[in-house]
Amino acid sequence: MCGIVGYIGTREAYPIIIEGLKRLEYRGYDSAGIALFDGSELKISKTKGKVSDLEARADKEITKNGNIGIGHTRWATHGVPNDVNSHPHISNSGDLVIIHNGIIENYETLKQELISRGYTFKSDTDTEVLINLIEEVKKQENVKLGQAVQIALNQVIGAYAIAVFDKTKPEEIVIARLGSPLAVGVGENEYFIASDASPFLEYTKNAIYLEDEEMAIIRFHKGIKVRKIKDDSIVPAYVQELQMNLEQIEKGGYEHFMLKEIHEQPKAITDTYRGRLLRNEAIIKMAGVEDNMKKFLNANRIIIVACGTSWHAGLVAEYIFEELARIPVEVEYASEFRYRNPIIGENDVVIAISQSGETADTLAAIKLAKSKGAFVFGVCNVVGSSIAREAHAGAYTHAGPEIGVASTKAFTTQITILTLMALRLARAKGTISSSDFRQHLLELELIPNKVEQALKSDAHIKMIADIYKDSRNCLYLGRGFNFPVALEGALKLKEISYIHAEGYPAAEMKHGPIALIDENMPIIVIATKKGHYEKVVSNIQEIKSRKGKIIGIVTEGDTQVRELADHVIEVPDTLESLSPLLTTIPLQLLSYHIAVLLGKNVDQPRNLAKSVTVE
Ligand code: F6R
Repeated sequence: MCGIVGYIGTREAYPIIIEGLKRLEYRGYDSAGIALFDGSELKISKTKGKVSDLEARADKEITKNGNIGIGHTRWATHGVPNDVNSHPHISNSGDLVIIHNGIIENYETLKQELISRGYTFKSDTDTEVLINLIEEVKKQENVKLGQAVQIALNQVIGAYAIAVFDKTKPEEIVIARLGSPLAVGVGENEYFIASDASPFLEYTKNAIYLEDEEMAIIRFHKGIKVRKIKDDSIVPAYVQELQMNLEQIEKGGYEHFMLKEIHEQPKAITDTYRGRLLRNEAIIKMAGVEDNMKKFLNANRIIIVACGTSWHAGLVAEYIFEELARIPVEVEYASEFRYRNPIIGENDVVIAISQSGETADTLAAIKLAKSKGAFVFGVCNVVGSSIAREAHAGAYTHAGPEIGVASTKAFTTQITILTLMALRLARAKGTISSSDFRQHLLELELIPNKVEQALKSDAHIKMIADIYKDSRNCLYLGRGFNFPVALEGALKLKEISYIHAEGYPAAEMKHGPIALIDENMPIIVIATKKGHYEKVVSNIQEIKSRKGKIIGIVTEGDTQVRELADHVIEVPDTLESLSPLLTTIPLQLLSYHIAVLLGKNVDQPRNLAKSVTVE
């Protein structure tokens, strides 16, 4: 978490850094800061709050000229969000300045050591320790900044993406990464540094992505040198051309990124299966699966590791893989898996699902699985991300940038890709007939239009949101393929509206949660025609007799639930296994509208960040 931006070149650095920080605010937004050097003076402005608060403060505090600068938007780890703990941090001499995304785990030991050598600290952060450690190394070893950074980082345990410069040598910025992403935009006589490419897309499409344990010295006019942090060996700097464009990362007329991304789902799902689902030839082509078919077919089981919404997509996939391909599947929270000494071996296939491809727990889980000999397949959205690179093989979802902190199109595109995989494996194993296979392909191709249909209930959903926006609690129920959708619906509501919500398998209700039901409790029940319909209707009767308020997500034309429920929201009919792709749409819209009606910050909910690069 935290977003970092830097610039060195001939333009004014301030607007580039501020606009870049705004694009990276999804990574953390509890404080922000900037450091600029104008040839004679190092100017720092930082504040608790958002980048807009920083702009207001910088207006009063600093002059904004300077061709070298670094900026930061923070998601607090060490030290509460306040002005002092905000980045950038400067060293005791006042010469060195740093921004940092990550956690220095041994910072307390390093801090004590530095204190014993006379260093003082203003903030509670691990970052201020790191910049003073760099200063101390530079002094003691009498080395240049790049070497001091390298030596200091070899004493550090933890994760970092950093950018550092020295005001007495303002023609270079030193950057380094371990466990947190870092990209360099390469322009003509100018360089942009950022946690992802969005801050520099309008200036250059050429980017270098640093790998873990790499650092780079970026010199104005002299270019960039990439080195290994461990042994200082030179690494060739591989410049790649970005495919993303600016439009994709702007709101395009929508009030919020989340709403834009909800509405992008028909296209995103199409982009996910395009070139992979070839209905006329009745085949699915996925290079990562084809090339490793033996691994999949010989697998004792598939273990899915993920966090949050991606974990919910994994749960849907468990139903799909077991139903279609008859391969046993276990779904694990990556954060639990990595620490519980799991029994795993060469005949296991691990699928890691991650929108960002940077989630620290998921990354650690796959490293562990690899160390035990398992084959690891990554399902990521962000191209070139750490998880995508760490996996043996994988498939991108191609959902396009997801900027709203609450995940929407990532979820449906993950389900799409996992469905394609399950179908491909089912075909290879012979666990699906050719007519069923064709029907799945046909139905999957119809999903984008059906999502479009489901989106048309927006105004009706907004009206329902208005009725229930002041609820304190909410239950979400579903069965089978739609049980994980209930979990996902509840997660969406709690993260953006701060209303307490729980998802349950509908039949579990009577084992406890039924005690919560009274006339104030809204219960969203996914009750589509295919899949345990009659049983869900019985669950609805049980709620009704306890006076709960029922919002039914039903198949178009449903009459039975309509008679029982207080409200129904219709979605088009489809195969049961594909229904999560439709039933999730009204739940996304419901949370969105409730949050907007409550005046919450939908795209940047409190305490959250888009990319969780710390454990
Ligand atoms: C919820 C949400 C999070 C993420 C989770 C995993 O809306 O966005 O729960 O799903 O942090 O992130 P990725 O998929 O990037 O690994």
